[in-house]
Amino acid sequence: HLSVQERIEKKRKAALTGGGQLRIAAQHKRGKLTARERLELLLDPDSFVEYDMFVEHRCSDFGMEADHNKYPGDSVVTGQGRINGRLVYVFITKYLIYYYLISAFMSEMLFCSQDFTVFGGSLSGAHAQKVCKVMDQAMMVGAPVIGLNDSGGARIQEGVESLAGYADIFLRNVMASGVVPQISLIMGPCAGGAVYSPALTDFTFMVKDTSYLFITGPDVVKSVTNEDVTQEELGGAKTHTTVSGVAHRAFENDVDALLNLRDFFNFLPLSNKDPAPVTECHDPRDRPVPGLDTIVPFESTKAYDMLDIVHGIVDEREFFEIMPNYAKNIVVGFARMNGRTVGIVGNQPKVASGCLDVNSSVKGARFVRFCDAFNIPIITFVDVPGFLPGSTEASSDTEPNCAYDVMSSKHLRGDVNYAWPSAEVAVMGAKGAVQIIFRGKENQAEAEAEYVEKFANPFPAAVRGFVDDIIQPSTTRKRLCRDLEVLASKKQTNPWKKHANIPL
Ligand code: COA
Repeated sequence: HLSVQERIEKKRKAALTGGGQLRIAAQHKRGKLTARERLELLLDPDSFVEYDMFVEHRCSDFGMEADHNKYPGDSVVTGQGRINGRLVYVFITKYLIYYYLISAFMSEMLFCSQDFTVFGGSLSGAHAQKVCKVMDQAMMVGAPVIGLNDSGGARIQEGVESLAGYADIFLRNVMASGVVPQISLIMGPCAGGAVYSPALTDFTFMVKDTSYLFITGPDVVKSVTNEDVTQEELGGAKTHTTVSGVAHRAFENDVDALLNLRDFFNFLPLSNKDPAPVTECHDPRDRPVPGLDTIVPFESTKAYDMLDIVHGIVDEREFFEIMPNYAKNIVVGFARMNGRTVGIVGNQPKVASGCLDVNSSVKGARFVRFCDAFNIPIITFVDVPGFLPGSTEASSDTEPNCAYDVMSSKHLRGDVNYAWPSAEVAVMGAKGAVQIIFRGKENQAEAEAEYVEKFANPFPAAVRGFVDDIIQPSTTRKRLCRDLEVLASKKQTNPWKKHANIPL
């Protein structure tokens, strides 16, 4: 007969070893860390406060009521901690790992980390309840949620209880969207019911080779569609970061992923009511960038790398690119200007001449919506011939003139718009324009020259005040840093509505 104190200690010890040494060894053999090891890397030392270590599953079917099938804390580790001094809530599953990290600069944060060593991190009713608790707290205090996912999906022995738990989490994902940042890191299997929640979060990162994300595995795919497909092809990091666009970045291994997540976290505000953190900046705000004066080739048909412009302008050349391997004709990501977080959007002339198509438009739009929801200013570098026309792109606007309009023009509430001397702000290229308005007429070459003289320069936009100034490219950083400081106090309201109904 143990005393209460002894029982408490016994349970705590059991919770710390999850599914036991053998399963921990198996987890390591797969090249993966355990839920708790992951937390140690993610959170600041000694900052983790665990919740619900005594929670156990309530299933009594299939022999689950036996003591040896009960694990204190069940298959997820949840609690609060700090990342670089800011609060975060996380959950880490023990087999399937879900981490929801909630963080705020200089405040506490909550987290969940799924423990794959306990029933494969599968989601029981109790597991879901633990995750919901940290999500609710995160919303209440205004702190990000990070989920470290490593789970075999719904706890098969629990059936509908588990499915109900998923729905409870999905509801919170939706309610938290735009209120606190939600980040998912897929660090093992993430199958079945487990996939929906990460897909609803703002950013989904994956670990190469050891993580996969799919609704159903290769065997079921084979039986339904007769298609032979491997786990990696179906839902591995490469597939989701290059083909489906479901995941935003892939990292080499658990350690690389968690350290990158710490860096990424520094760009974000804790909630939509908090400003993004301002870091000390050692890169002079008025630093000229001479290379920019010659970076754009004289002939507009020649390509250059938009990333060279981005790196040249932002603080310390530091750019955290989002979806670097998907829809590469647009570049999006986070950087800082004089220590303040900015979202960067840029057309990439190197890929498909930077034309906008469906995938790049969705990639850009989702990123801009995140920045807008969390009051992160956006710098847009525009060099775009237009939308890619064609029947396969039918859901995008095929009129090239929309490119000027959609890339943060003043008419769409762009606050400050600059043109470089090489800019051409026009409905379309000279050749195409002349072919339409002078169809069948002689002197096409003359008309083309006139069009170039009139429109292929920044003046038509500048004389109308649609751009605020024509600036020397090398002064861009200085100008933008100054504008961002002024605009930091910007206030703008929209008419009341329940929500918008733009096409999804
Ligand atoms: N419910 C309950 N237990 C589960 C589980 C689930 N959904 N998924 C895995 N487990 C358990 C396994 O029974 C095993 O238990 P053990 O350690 O006592 O032997 C442990 O987790 C590890 O699973 P295992 O299958 O040995 O690992 P793996 O790396 O070979 O395969 C998966 C991982 C996720 C591919 C595989 O376990 C799987 O297909 N799980 C079911 C996925 C699913 O269909 N979920 C329900 C739909 S939402």
